[in-house]
Amino acid sequence: MNALKLVLAPMDGVLDAPLRHVLTKINFYDYCESEFVRITDITVPAGVLLKKVPELSSGGRTDSGTPVYVQLLGQYPEVMASSAALACRMGAAGIDLNFGCPAKQVNKSNGGAALLKTPDLIAEICRAVRDSVPENIPVTAKMRLGYDSADHFLEIAEKIYSSGVDALCVHGRTKADGYLPDTVRWDLIGEIRKLCPVPVIANGDIFDRISAEKCIFVTGCSMLMLARGALYLPNLANVIRNGEEPFSYEQMVETVHEFIAAFRRFSPEGNIFARMKQFLSYLREYYNELTANEIFKRVCRCSSEDEALALLDSTVAEVMKGEE
Ligand SMILES: Cc1cc2nc3c(=O)[nH]c(=O)nc-3n(C[C@H](O)[C@H](O)[C@H](O)COP(=O)(O)O)c2cc1C
Repeated sequence: MNALKLVLAPMDGVLDAPLRHVLTKINFYDYCESEFVRITDITVPAGVLLKKVPELSSGGRTDSGTPVYVQLLGQYPEVMASSAALACRMGAAGIDLNFGCPAKQVNKSNGGAALLKTPDLIAEICRAVRDSVPENIPVTAKMRLGYDSADHFLEIAEKIYSSGVDALCVHGRTKADGYLPDTVRWDLIGEIRKLCPVPVIANGDIFDRISAEKCIFVTGCSMLMLARGALYLPNLANVIRNGEEPFSYEQMVETVHEFIAAFRRFSPEGNIFARMKQFLSYLREYYNELTANEIFKRVCRCSSEDEALALLDSTVAEVMKGEE
């Protein structure tokens, strides 16, 4: 998989700076994306951008040198353009535009996936942003296949790729599909790829090497975006790219410790306990009952961070002993 490019997805409330730091240190990602930054009817304040994307103060890259694209979500072309220009002046490595977020609150104010109902407005936003951003900084867009149905997926894609963006990421579901299993349509991503003059990034349900190979085969894409799978298995990108062994239980727990250290560095005041439980809830998808799931259940019963940290280590020791 030499020519393969892998992108670490935007995940609001999950893939923040500490997790981006940890996952881009473990894996080689071609670039990663920030959580979406909500753009209202005024240019986003610099402080908001810095809070969501602290990497802007270190050249728009994670510690391991992975470029961080800033994802913007909004409906007003001029304000999106001025906000994108500001993000670039502050050091963004790229700009991504969100046309896929299914959250009710966001859709109510005509943001994210709601824009899929007005492809002309999407095109206007893409064009305005592309025009306001220096040529050497990529502008990408991320779409779902439609709002209620996939009836207009080609029209939406065509509006986007004709507006000058440098790449188009397609999550192969409609807004109505949410994240339901077995709804992802890689075949339709392939339809877009055949017509699209810029790279298409395939996204949705890539959880292991086999699904990555199948997605590449069905879509014909050589760029993939990993979201939930990157959290289920912390070294998923390396497993896909190099055939690396999936992380052991011990490495998984070490990753949780690294996350905790990074979280303390980026958000000294933040609630580490809640974030640790959230990370474990993803990890238990890959690691079996006796590991992440068991740790998750036990951690949920803890009343302090120190107690939870001690539990992490003792549970893994127990698992290792059981395996001998
Ligand atoms: C908790 C959560 C938060 C997400 N936040 C964002 C976001 O901020 N911007 C975005 O474009 N997509 C967001 N997504 C969608 C993912 O980037 C991705 O498109 C989707 O999860 C499908 O990929 P997967 O099957 O690999 O998880 C989010 C998904 C989840 C589960």
